Amino acid sequence: MEKSLDQALANFKDKIADCIKSKKSISVITHIDCDGITSGSIISKALIRAGANCTVTTAKELNKKVIEKLREDHRDFHVITDLGGGFGKALDENLADKWFVLDHHQIPQEEFDNERVINAWKYGIDGGTQISAGGMAYQAAKVLDDKNTELAWIAVVSALGDRQDQGEKKSFTGINLEIANAAKNSGQMEIDLDLLLVGRETRPLPDALAFTSQPFIEGLTWNRDACLSLLNSSGIKLKDGGRWRVPAELNEDEKRMVIESISKFTSGKNATEIMDELIGYTYTFPREDRGSFLRDGREFSTMLNSCGRIQKAGVGIAICMGDRTKMLKEGENILVEYRKMIRNYMNIIANERWRTSDTTNCVMVNAEGIVPETMTGTISSLIAGSPKNAGKIVILRTDGEEGTIKFSSRKSYSCKSGINLSNLMRTGAEKFEGVGGGHDAAAGARITKDKLDGFLDYLEQNVLNVQSAGNSQ
Ligand code: C5P
Repeated sequence: MEKSLDQALANFKDKIADCIKSKKSISVITHIDCDGITSGSIISKALIRAGANCTVTTAKELNKKVIEKLREDHRDFHVITDLGGGFGKALDENLADKWFVLDHHQIPQEEFDNERVINAWKYGIDGGTQISAGGMAYQAAKVLDDKNTELAWIAVVSALGDRQDQGEKKSFTGINLEIANAAKNSGQMEIDLDLLLVGRETRPLPDALAFTSQPFIEGLTWNRDACLSLLNSSGIKLKDGGRWRVPAELNEDEKRMVIESISKFTSGKNATEIMDELIGYTYTFPREDRGSFLRDGREFSTMLNSCGRIQKAGVGIAICMGDRTKMLKEGENILVEYRKMIRNYMNIIANERWRTSDTTNCVMVNAEGIVPETMTGTISSLIAGSPKNAGKIVILRTDGEEGTIKFSSRKSYSCKSGINLSNLMRTGAEKFEGVGGGHDAAAGARITKDKLDGFLDYLEQNVLNVQSAGNSQ
């Protein structure tokens, strides 16, 4: 096994140099979510800059079929980003030595010895919190050419998309912090301590407050009328002429007035925690237009997620690669559509109570027939974010393509379970001839429909009936 990430990346660089010299074509294949779109964009941009003949495509996941398609593809070399955990052997068998994976998902031990798998965990880096696939692609891009340091800001969007801003006050830690500082030092990004309202650059103030669910403020979150009345009484100006003002426009005094009003409103239970969570680090791209959903890092990441989730990942890739014309408008439309879809699915799940079964440590949601498989991650994350599910594991399922069932699992905020969801999903899926994997706190699986009962029994034994922390399944 290569001893260090540097050594692995040096091998990667040599291989890419060979491809470029012998005019071989390179295909980049990446995952459809924000981290996938950004990592694929970063490495594609670096490859194109290096003179490679390169194309980029996306996939919902890696599986045997996708790998067979890669084998039949006429392109000579494959760079796989944000995908591939557990498929090293299959990739060797199908593509021989014509591939590399750049990734941060947890991988089985046997994959640690595969030199073509360039995965954070192999080098002692926590891929759940310290680096995203975008961060890994950025490290590779930098090795190809120092000039690619200017792509650091995209790797910050990757980490935000994967919710790796888990340090104090939503800061980054580990390599993510180095990447964020590189983006800041190059003048591409500003880092500030600010009010953490969602939609900082785009949402009217009452909407921004109402849609902020971290922290969840009982009486305000998801209650726009209450937010409007609170903001009105705070004394700040909510409109500029006929236009609603957005959170990013508030000056320091106005922010203080908003904080005071919220503080009065929440006085009592959890007030200190709420106020503490309301302030955190924001990541702003000053070169993007004011009022654009690309200016705030978290909004940017939501837009990219929405592109992939409604199967228009290409729009997100075009935006990451620099398109600020037609694709920008398209991205905006996708975001509106995505939010509408989320509202609709959440309403159905809330109204059709039979879909949810709730125990002390787990919430199981049957979203068959309503949530498309590409949206399961979004919906399971939202359910896990609801305060009533604090401390629990959420497992959502829906019907997927070709007679399969797709599972998406998440640990909610403050979940102390020792269950590793990546192991749970991978081991379980393999028992039932499916595929699964991911991270400790967010993982997915796919099995065929005929194995559903068996898989649900497996979950019951390994999650529902596990009361205490410490199970490492
Ligand atoms: O599908 P879902 O969004 O729930 O997946 C959560 C995480 O697990 C994602 O990062 C996804 O890439 C990863 N995953 C994986 N292997 C699978 C399914 C999901 O690595 N077979």
